[in-house]
Amino acid sequence: MITKKRKVDHIRICLEKAVECYRRPFEDLVLIHSALPEISENDIDVSCDFLGQKVRAPLIISAMTGGHPDTKKINVNLAEAAQEMGVALGVGSQRAALEDPKQEDTFSAVREAAPDVPIIGNIGAVQLRKCGPEVLEILAEMIDANAIAIHLNFLQESVQPEGDRDASGIFEALRYAARGTVPLLIKETGAGIGHEIARELVKNGLKLIDVSGMGGTSWSGVEAYRAEEAGDIESMELGKLFWNWGIPTPASIVECLSAGADVVASGGIRSGIDAAKSIALGASMTGIALPLLSPATKSSDEVVKVLKTYVRALKISMFLTGCRNIHELQCAPLVVLGSTKDWLNQRGFDIKKYSIVRELA
Ligand SMILES: Cc1cc2nc3c(=O)[nH]c(=O)nc-3n(C[C@H](O)[C@H](O)[C@H](O)COP(=O)(O)O)c2cc1C
Repeated sequence: MITKKRKVDHIRICLEKAVECYRRPFEDLVLIHSALPEISENDIDVSCDFLGQKVRAPLIISAMTGGHPDTKKINVNLAEAAQEMGVALGVGSQRAALEDPKQEDTFSAVREAAPDVPIIGNIGAVQLRKCGPEVLEILAEMIDANAIAIHLNFLQESVQPEGDRDASGIFEALRYAARGTVPLLIKETGAGIGHEIARELVKNGLKLIDVSGMGGTSWSGVEAYRAEEAGDIESMELGKLFWNWGIPTPASIVECLSAGADVVASGGIRSGIDAAKSIALGASMTGIALPLLSPATKSSDEVVKVLKTYVRALKISMFLTGCRNIHELQCAPLVVLGSTKDWLNQRGFDIKKYSIVRELA
């Protein structure tokens, strides 16, 4: 099946069906409320630096689309909203434009609409292995990108009938890519990254990691719907079976931080509160995908509305924990409960450091 047709199927299914994981791991985290924050909400500054640029909030519109004429408008709406809000933006896999250069403008339109914000290109690790590291410069030039995300999606490939289930040689391809001039972000797509893999990535110069953990969009779920539509019952059953597979996002944040990574938290971030919790765990940025898809099919104003609510909830969370800026939020105490606590305990992490009184680092 050609890439651009599959892409449109994915978008349609994500718009029409319930594609999220059943668990909400962020409910395991509770920020410690400050009854007397002693700051003014007006003084709260949520800006930070990302990829050498200032962004007005620690937010990335995560990679979703491009590569089919129908997706250009979605990308432009997302880009206009990113520009208005001063936040970063990722495009979906640029593979379709490599296969069919006529699709390039569905990606390059993004830089035209968002000249002043960090933009992240995107390619699958499997395609990187196939095309070689030279492709990274081509992808970066296509959209004047600040970095390229290389996505890992072996859960999806595993349950997709036409999926590529050969992951051998990927590390070597990544190692090689890390020596080039294009800044790289290694990102999962909803199944998370653990300490052992993060440690290898960091050791090889790939320090910027987007965990994209379990708890939000399930790509196994999306493929289950696609298989059902195609009458492929075996693949549908497999997609359902692996629906909630993966490392939950909060656990993945801690796993990657402990390996020395600079962490983008994504996968099930559904509000500014989830973003605040991720940052209190130590993430530097947060990413959201699915909640912005439907608004992006309508207009950039609809996307801006969602982003404003998100930033407002982040600010309120900071006010109610007495944090004036992102650095202070990274040291805000929080309690880890439930299965996230069990997970982190069993993996040998000291979770008390999050809940006891924390001094500014
Ligand atoms: C419609 C859609 C298309 C996506 N396409 C890509 C993609 O091309 N490349 C990629 O790295 N991630 C892709 N993702 C994954 C997201 O970037 C993100 O990692 C994942 O959906 C988890 O975030 P969420 O729970 O906020 O949706 C896509 C997600 C959605 C919803």
